[in-house]
Amino acid sequence: MTSPTRPLFARLSAPGDDIVRFTVDGVEATARRGDSVAAALLACGLALRETAVSGAPRAPYCMMGVCFDCLVAIDGVGNKQGCLVEVAEGMRIELQRGRREAER
Ligand code: FES
Repeated sequence: MTSPTRPLFARLSAPGDDIVRFTVDGVEATARRGDSVAAALLACGLALRETAVSGAPRAPYCMMGVCFDCLVAIDGVGNKQGCLVEVAEGMRIELQRGRREAER
């Protein structure tokens, strides 16, 4: 007997889940109401950012506000910790790639 294979972060949906629609870099996506932004993006199979120094991909690690590997831009505001923000209807999320520009 073979065991079924599943992606590491497969979504376990149930009928009647309350769905929230948002965009990631302009592409429409969905999540369950109550998901954090980080959880929603992991369920989409996305790494969240690339490091400023080497460009290495990073994904959420601690899911509790400690590691800062979940930084994203939310509704135009950069460096938000995706694990601490609940995804909301119509939210615009942008993945952060490389070095950020400082405001002058
Ligand atoms: S996943 Fe570690 S701070 Fe968000």
